[in-house]
Amino acid sequence: MDAVMDVVLRNATLPDGRGGIDLAIAAGRIAAVGPALPLRGAREIDAGGDLVSPPFVDAHFHMDATLSYGLPRVNASGTLLEGIALWGELKPQLSQQALVERALQYCDWAVARGLLAIRSHVDICDDRLLAVEALLDVKRQVAPYLDLQLVAFPQDGLLRSPTAFNNLKRAIALGVDVVGGIPHFERTMADGAESVRLLCEFAAGKDLRVDMHCDESDDPLSRHIETLAYESNRLGLHGRVAGSHLTSMHSMDNYYVSKLLPLIREAGVAAIANPLINITLQGRHDSYPKRRGMTRVPELMAAGVTVAFGHDCVMDPWYSLGSGDMLEVAHMGLHVAQMTGQDAMRACYAAVTEHPARILGLQGYGLEVGCHADLVLLDAASPVEAIRLRAARRLVMRRGAVVSEAPRAAARLALPGRPERVDFRLGR
Ligand code: FE2
Repeated sequence: MDAVMDVVLRNATLPDGRGGIDLAIAAGRIAAVGPALPLRGAREIDAGGDLVSPPFVDAHFHMDATLSYGLPRVNASGTLLEGIALWGELKPQLSQQALVERALQYCDWAVARGLLAIRSHVDICDDRLLAVEALLDVKRQVAPYLDLQLVAFPQDGLLRSPTAFNNLKRAIALGVDVVGGIPHFERTMADGAESVRLLCEFAAGKDLRVDMHCDESDDPLSRHIETLAYESNRLGLHGRVAGSHLTSMHSMDNYYVSKLLPLIREAGVAAIANPLINITLQGRHDSYPKRRGMTRVPELMAAGVTVAFGHDCVMDPWYSLGSGDMLEVAHMGLHVAQMTGQDAMRACYAAVTEHPARILGLQGYGLEVGCHADLVLLDAASPVEAIRLRAARRLVMRRGAVVSEAPRAAARLALPGRPERVDFRLGR
């Protein structure tokens, strides 16, 4: 016992399966990791063999719309296009204060769920840039406990909306981090491709990352991901570009996809699927059979593409449910993609932790020595059990400080001859 750390977390199981691990934390960073560390902590926490994970990361969200469900009315058809129309009705009524309050409330939920980094698109098609200013304010306010990365998102189309490109440039100048786009919503396929070229060139010139809503439709001929990969490759943007949704890939011709996957990999373009939203919004024009609409997640992963699962929406014009729980997102992604093997289920966990951290370019993310002491203690023994149970977040830590605590999930039974307590975990 030669040194005193700020915190020592004892007897953790890590996502890679190592058990009986202690983590020592000093000055907001992980100072040591290993079995039975001979260190004392000013605060000692017993993980009791439970899973300690780096925090959840959401690579795709819309914080300007969140928690607005029912304003000014609910989405009657439930479709993407009515959602966009409804958002258009709501926009003129938005106030900066209401946007900030809703976003801060969502960030509270996120922290309680162990979700400590979010990439949020922010609509820049309102010439007032009200939402941009509101979310930049939120970004500053939450910075001590949550990394909020903002994407300048031309919801009404870069070329289709006359002021969009200028507004996007204004948003970037104000401090928005990432260049967004929506090529499938432009008037023509040619305009969509042109918007991808313009936005990638703009991003390359400013040394910015790119994340486009890309091919969010059931149209098998919507192929803007091909253009996005081409432009990323041409402009040397490898590792800095993501295609969000890519739902048209679900419906594409298999031969074409066999050519497309290596092109995405070659260009270093990441893919972000949004399982809760894709399974809800896609296939709406189908009778039966009804397409699932989520992009080809296991095939993209097998091709070497970084794939993340995003939440996309919580209680907004497009989706009426959600609570910031990335385990719920992984759970749905696992089912829709039929990723039921052990390795596949672990990959679903990585799709809400390390993969999106890579896409956001987070520095100091992970549980290695020197990383930020940002972590979650889950009421589960493994990533697979965490997904199965949407496990309670017993403790959430940011920069070495505990920012949220919750009890284990359990119930008290009143059955003759049966145990009093049931907690849904085998062997406990
Ligand atoms: Fe989205």
